[in-house]
Amino acid sequence: MSNKLKLTALGAALAFGLTACGGGGAGSGGSDTADAAPEDLSIGVSMPTQTSERWIADGDAVQSQLEDAGYQVDLQFANDDIPTQSQQIDQMITEGADLLIIAAIDGTALSGQLQAAADANIPVISYDRLIRDTENVDFYVTFDNFAVGEAQANALLVGLGLQNADGSAGTETGPFNIELFAGSLDDNNAFFFFDGAMSVLQPLLDDGTLVIPSGQNTIEQAATLRWQQETAQSRMETLLTGSYNDGTVLDGVLSPYDGISRGIITALQNAGYGPNLDSTPQALPAVTGQDAEIASVALIDQGVQSSTIFKDTRNLAEQAVTAATAFLQDEEPEANDTETYDNGVKVVPSYLLPVETVYADDIQSVLVDSGYYTEAEVQSGQSD
Ligand code: GAL
Repeated sequence: MSNKLKLTALGAALAFGLTACGGGGAGSGGSDTADAAPEDLSIGVSMPTQTSERWIADGDAVQSQLEDAGYQVDLQFANDDIPTQSQQIDQMITEGADLLIIAAIDGTALSGQLQAAADANIPVISYDRLIRDTENVDFYVTFDNFAVGEAQANALLVGLGLQNADGSAGTETGPFNIELFAGSLDDNNAFFFFDGAMSVLQPLLDDGTLVIPSGQNTIEQAATLRWQQETAQSRMETLLTGSYNDGTVLDGVLSPYDGISRGIITALQNAGYGPNLDSTPQALPAVTGQDAEIASVALIDQGVQSSTIFKDTRNLAEQAVTAATAFLQDEEPEANDTETYDNGVKVVPSYLLPVETVYADDIQSVLVDSGYYTEAEVQSGQSD
């Protein structure tokens, strides 16, 4: 036996020994995994929900890329239910996960699970959403969330005609009536999206180019618990009844996520807005979005939703796999941001990916040519 083989065998035996008799059978993480073959390592992947197409794509991408790298994968979705997610993570730990990748439902609700992971020396990667209020999160892979908010606000201005897609001044001058929607307040990202958007919109609200007829301009007023489509639809209905039944026309809606956008659009259509023809006074307002969910991409293609922000889940999965591999080889993953994401206890080293705005004209080049969707999926609004 060569020395390397002997070492590998020794490492595997040690890892097996630790797994077999270590605390609660928990996996070891860190240096104990460094000599193990990927096939002998198991990674728990906890995703928030399968009701949103976005998280299904994330789950698929993370699972397949981890499996391609040889790892065993335990992928679980939690139906947007906090106790379910806690219990699934508890189980991953007791079943001997060597590393956890978690997209939290409530970023503050997992401290107990993460303490158990730390006690078992299991590295934890926070996926897309920052896990807050704990020391025991080791790395964060996400997109530039403040930039998402800025891009959404700029897309709103483009939809209103105040600005062109290249950032130059548009043909319109306003004033325009807009309403603001935000995400779920238990998701750290919601604040980044809203703050990024307001950094662009606030000066235009201050100088009167933009007006919010409802007056609801805080994130608390604009929030949408669990990012639910139905909740957004019902708030939009309330806003229309409260501030627009005197003939006031709504011109634009800042929406942070495609599911919320579809709820808003349904409420608007039920109230008589649309189709989006410039000649009708009741044209659908410009509605932004995020995630390039296929149902919304189809609406953008049809001129119903005006834009979305594309976050390529394949790239996020790749970063998660790169970080996981580094931890399992007892190395530190490479961060490109070590300042922005303070989780209340520490600044979590992060890898941020760029985002891209998609208008109808960009669907082919950004989403179809890259193989993210087929043309048939865009036409049908459903993924195959
Ligand atoms: C956020 C995520 C968004 C969107 C939203 C609703 O955390 O960053 O891209 O998916 O959740 O699922």
